[in-house]
Amino acid sequence: MASNGYFKLNTGFIIPAIGLGTWQSDPGVVGQAVETAIRVGYRHIDCAHVYKNEKEIGEVLKRLINEGVVKRSELFITSKLWNTDHAPEDVPVAIDRTLGNLQLEYVDLYLMHWPVSMKPGSVDFKPENLMPTNIHNIWKAMEKVYDSGKARAIGVSNFSTKKLGDLLQEARIPPAVNQVECHPSWQQAKLREFCKSKGVHLSAYSPLGSPGTTWLKSDVLKQPAVISVAEKLGKTPAQVCLRWGIQMGQSVLPKSTNEARIKENFDVLDWSIPDDLLAKFSEIPQARLLRGTSFVHEKYGQYRTLEELWDGEI
Ligand code: A2P
Repeated sequence: MASNGYFKLNTGFIIPAIGLGTWQSDPGVVGQAVETAIRVGYRHIDCAHVYKNEKEIGEVLKRLINEGVVKRSELFITSKLWNTDHAPEDVPVAIDRTLGNLQLEYVDLYLMHWPVSMKPGSVDFKPENLMPTNIHNIWKAMEKVYDSGKARAIGVSNFSTKKLGDLLQEARIPPAVNQVECHPSWQQAKLREFCKSKGVHLSAYSPLGSPGTTWLKSDVLKQPAVISVAEKLGKTPAQVCLRWGIQMGQSVLPKSTNEARIKENFDVLDWSIPDDLLAKFSEIPQARLLRGTSFVHEKYGQYRTLEELWDGEI
């Protein structure tokens, strides 16, 4: 459980309960957002090669470490292996590229971003770029990254309960984390129970339901249950969503590039939602927002349908 804003991983290391998300944080503003977050007290930054902003984040991390604002050992930096880098010989190149961009000697957590392989070097989501996916072989290459010390923990992202279960059966090093979409409108009850029973930490992306992503049609912050709990506690809907996630045992990764909201999102550690109000979250209709439609195709790639990609969890 969270104590002082941390959860324990199956590696023995801790993961801070709140991390700054950097998906869709534009180059030019992401650096400032990371600096603001670290100065406010965030110690966990969630990055990925495919977000195309790791270089700018690396410059800021280096400067803040050099200036003594934060020590490397206090930070928890996550990055992710992109779908085009799944060939065993490409995985070590990908982690080296990310470490170069972030100007770090190791990441605290390296995740397989999706259980979906794409053609090496491809840059768009055309169906022809999808490839058969051998999760077991990719994981073996991830385990070598762990062995090399370049990642202190390895894990997965966007894995269904079934895919995670299959991987746990054959992994030499069990994944420490499954990072998935999780918020009051997609609560992941089944996956959370499974993760808990296996000692895999669930980390929540889009913990506010990505309200700025217009194509996702999110209304998490507008849910009557969220608003009423927020009003009763004198908090904002966003804070209530984040606090809900932490109380469910998840680390939460809200993205913001706005100073006031970065501060608001961090202010969720010294209060809690009482049980009677927590019960209200069960009233909220459930729907996955990020469905991964570009990762399924009747002819190309590993998965013919969304049912297959998510093993029915849609
Ligand atoms: P901004 O970067 O302008 O703050 P998620 O983490 O669920 O993907 O949500 C990210 C989106 O939510 C971004 O559009 C971000 O915009 C917005 N956001 C972040 N924090 C808050 C907040 N406290 N209240 C409302 N919207 C927020």
